[in-house]
Amino acid sequence: MYFNRNRRLRTGAGIRALVRETSLSTDDFVLPIFVMEGKDKQEAIGSMPGVFRRSVDRTVKEIKELSDLGIRAVNIYVKADDKLKDNTGKEAWNPDGLMQRTIRAIKDAAPEMVVMPDVALDPYSIYGHDGIVENGKIVNDATVDALVKMSLSHAEAGADFVAPSDMMDGRTLAIRRAFEENGFGEVGIVAYAAKYASAFYGPFRSALDSAPVDALDIPTDKKTYQMDFANSREAIREVLDDVDEGADIIMIKPGLPKLDIVAKVREIITQPIAVYQVSGEYAMIKAAAQNGWLDNDKVILESLHSIKRAGADMVFTYFAKEAAQLLNG
Ligand code: PBG
Repeated sequence: MYFNRNRRLRTGAGIRALVRETSLSTDDFVLPIFVMEGKDKQEAIGSMPGVFRRSVDRTVKEIKELSDLGIRAVNIYVKADDKLKDNTGKEAWNPDGLMQRTIRAIKDAAPEMVVMPDVALDPYSIYGHDGIVENGKIVNDATVDALVKMSLSHAEAGADFVAPSDMMDGRTLAIRRAFEENGFGEVGIVAYAAKYASAFYGPFRSALDSAPVDALDIPTDKKTYQMDFANSREAIREVLDDVDEGADIIMIKPGLPKLDIVAKVREIITQPIAVYQVSGEYAMIKAAAQNGWLDNDKVILESLHSIKRAGADMVFTYFAKEAAQLLNG
């Protein structure tokens, strides 16, 4: 009898490359970007070192750099002025709003870049919620109507996919139906299907100044619509609902804390899976790297490989540019 000498497959870089099960390339990345008003402006985001908010003109310049690096897709967020915020979210479907202008500018400058704007009301909500608030509740169906208007305005501006991140029930079906009825049959939906109520979104909310406000009778968290982090079976139900409703791509979020969910969903659906390595995951790695406690480049590549290994087809990651530079060597 022999025991297994598993180390034979690790003896050198050549054999290790041959038996490597997961690969990473710039084809896998979607870069989330933050856009603000102004001309020739760029502001650093304190809680996310290396990430910036940029005016539309600067964003377009950045997009050209991203294309040159081989990055094919961006997910867009805008920082709305406080005076545009209300409890209806109506600025979200203003045809000349910051998001709509950004989508048009990117598609004009780089038509091949896949543009995936975020769909949710939080950047436009005086309460910092992803939906309309009535009597202390985030109401579902009225919010879905608003999300449909928002999605149509993104499609009109030239979006390739919309990415609803709000977790309202039924919005994927409503958006799909509206697209079909309005001549946008080719515009797709990246549905955030299993999105957990997560403290890992903290740095993102400070980037957009979009955290739920602390007001009387209004929930200060998103637990009535985003999922409980203790749950797993519920994620399968959420995913299957979005598949039934016509989602093209299924999103699971956050990333590293939820890879068990990714692996399970991978066994069940055939649609592409996107995983979001969120702001808090980014911030943890950056903070440790800045302190010299972790090797920045190695941890970036290991974390992205881990997400792919769990079953992701693509990764929404703030590391996209840095990882592309690493991969391009
Ligand atoms: C809001 C939205 C959030 C993120 C993406 N879209 C925050 C939230 O749900 O509160 C988080 C992204 C990140 O943390 O990187 N609809």
